Amino acid sequence: MEIRRIVAAYFSPTGNTEAIAKAIAKAAAQETNLPVEFIDFTRPQAREKTYEFEKDDLLIIGLPVYAGRLPNKILPFVQENLRGNDTVSVAFVCYGNRSFDDGLSELVYEQERTGFRPAGAAAFATQHAFATALAHGRPNEADLEEAKQFALDLMERVKSIGTAAGIAPLQVDGNTPPGPYYRPKRMDGEPAVFLKAKPVTNPEKCITCGTCARVCSMGSIDPADVTQTPGICIKCQACVTHCQAGAKYFDHPDFLSHKEMLETNFREEKKNRFWIANVCG
Ligand SMILES: Cc1cc2nc3c(=O)[nH]c(=O)nc-3n(C[C@H](O)[C@H](O)[C@H](O)COP(=O)(O)O)c2cc1C
Ligand code: SF4
Ligand code: SF4
Repeated sequence: MEIRRIVAAYFSPTGNTEAIAKAIAKAAAQETNLPVEFIDFTRPQAREKTYEFEKDDLLIIGLPVYAGRLPNKILPFVQENLRGNDTVSVAFVCYGNRSFDDGLSELVYEQERTGFRPAGAAAFATQHAFATALAHGRPNEADLEEAKQFALDLMERVKSIGTAAGIAPLQVDGNTPPGPYYRPKRMDGEPAVFLKAKPVTNPEKCITCGTCARVCSMGSIDPADVTQTPGICIKCQACVTHCQAGAKYFDHPDFLSHKEMLETNFREEKKNRFWIANVCG
């Protein structure tokens, strides 16, 4: 079938998912000679809109894995605000080298329930947002090359089918429907409880530039006083990562113990994984 519009949509507080989405989109665009439209739904304003897709569109959609699933506060956007109409899609997740558990199977499942036909899926091992020693520096050049090759293989498969109905259901690793969220552990093996943790600010380093408030994925940091986070914090690390002054950090003991546990036990680098749907009918 012929694709007439390519859209790449992503949630990416620390930039890994964005980098992979752009690599996949660039290769798909070169293959089809089409421009790419981007939907960056990292910030709350973008998640207020609803986006409709047609039969000859291609949606590339990526999210990071949080606690072995899709980020729960972002899930409603994926379920309600992206509407397919027998639209071919490519679903991928980025995860921080522990496990993608049911994150990818959840995304494929949600796509199938909302009018999309995932023709391909992938899980990329990328630098962990807070246990930054894991998959450090990834996606690297080799990862981006793999993303490109995946996109080219996928476009070849899409070309070979008459309509989206020719895409067989995709079987990826993980449970469908997804199982429970992963429960973080401390170094001593006990549950790490940091649901209410929020970032703190070093007043000696902070230059009151306001970036953290602007990039917060939940719009939770007070722009008038960035030391205050009155809203919900999902621990996405956008504020920490984007603060050029190194003034934002987490000091919650269970959060830090969980980070240490991850960096102690999940150092062995994982390989990226790819699935391309079979043709049916
Ligand atoms: C709150 C939170 C929970 C996470 N849970 C997992 C997880 O269960 N497994 C895993 O391997 N990585 C986990 N990660 C790591 C992210 O999936 C990974 O860093 C991803 O690359 C972040 O994407 P981004 O750069 O687009 O924000 C978690 C990160 C955060 C912030
Ligand atoms: S991004 Fe960093 S330096 Fe800028 S206001 Fe926030 S904490 Fe301060
Ligand atoms: S305050 Fe929490 S939700 Fe907002 S950017 Fe920082 S870590 Fe993410």
